[in-house]
Amino acid sequence: MFQSQHILSIATMGMGDIDFILREAQYIDKQPNYYHDAMHREVNSGKKTQINLFIENSTRTARSFELAGKKLGLDVIDLAPNASSFSKGETLLDTALTLQAMNPSILVLRHPESGAAHFLSQKLHDCAVINGGDGTHEHPSQALLDLATIYKFKNPDVRGLNIAICGDIAHSRVARSNIELLRQKGANLRLIAPKTLMPRLPNYPNVQIFTDMNKGLAGADVIMMLRLQLERMSNNFIPSLAEYYQYYGLTQQRLKIADSEVKVMHPGPMNRGVEIESAVADSLENSLILQQVEMGVKVRMAIIYALLSRKSMFEYMPK
Ligand code: CP
Repeated sequence: MFQSQHILSIATMGMGDIDFILREAQYIDKQPNYYHDAMHREVNSGKKTQINLFIENSTRTARSFELAGKKLGLDVIDLAPNASSFSKGETLLDTALTLQAMNPSILVLRHPESGAAHFLSQKLHDCAVINGGDGTHEHPSQALLDLATIYKFKNPDVRGLNIAICGDIAHSRVARSNIELLRQKGANLRLIAPKTLMPRLPNYPNVQIFTDMNKGLAGADVIMMLRLQLERMSNNFIPSLAEYYQYYGLTQQRLKIADSEVKVMHPGPMNRGVEIESAVADSLENSLILQQVEMGVKVRMAIIYALLSRKSMFEYMPK
C-alpha cells in the first residue's frame, strides 16, 4: 500500500513509494486506455478537486499536472500569481487556507522559496500537497519522470549505469532530487560543474565530482544537462555565457567522449547555445528530451492516483 500523505521530496519518500509510482507509471505507459478508464472510475468517486498553485512560471510541470488530473477525471483549477489575490499581498498561507475551504484533494505548489511545500503540508488537512519545485530544494516529480524515462529508453536497472549530471548543480532543485534518487538506486553518478556552481555534498561512495567536462563525460551512458539558473544567482558565478558554453556546453563534438549509445536528457526549459547545442538537443538518436515530457504526464497521473487511492492499479488489470 502507498504510504506517503504528500510528495515533498525524494529525500523524505520511502523507496517503497518511489517504486510504487514508477511501476504504476509503467502500467499507464503500456496500457493507457485501459488505465485511463479504470483510474477515472476509481478516483472520480466523490468528484475530487485538484488545485495547481504556481507562484513561479512553468510550462512542463504545470501543464502535465493539469493534463494528468484531467485524465483522472478530477476538477482541475490552475491558479497563477497574476490571476489571484497573491498579487495584492495575500500571503501563501492565507491563499492556501482560502483554497482549502473549497475542499481540494490535491494541491500542487511551485514556489521560489525552499520549504514552501513542506510548510503548506503542515497547515492543510485532508489535502495532499505535491511539491512542483521549491526554490533550490527539490523537484521530486521531475526526478521520478527522469528515472521512468531512463528505465524505458535506456535500461530498466540503473545499478552501475554511468550517469553524468552537468551544469548549474548548485542552483538546481532537479539535480538535488536526481542525485538523491539515482545514488540510492546505485547508479555511478558524475557531477560536472565549475567550482562556483558545485554545491557541497556529503561524501557518497557512488558520486564523483568533476570540474573538467571532458573527463566527466568519458564513457557516460546518460547525460543530464541543466539550465543556468541566472534568476537565482546573486553573484557572477561564470565569466561569460560564451566561456561557459566553451567549457561546459554539450556539443556534438563533446558527445563523442561519452559512450557511443549515450542518451541526453534535459528537464527544460533549455537555453540552446548556452548549455546545449541544438544539434544535440534535437538528435533523434541521442536526445530523450521530449520523451521526458511525455513520461511526465504518466508519472504525474501515477502520483495523483497513488495519493488518492493508495492502491495499485495492477489489481484492475484484466487477468
Ligand atoms: N522541468 C521543469 O520543471 O520545467 P517547467 O519549469 O517548465 O515546469
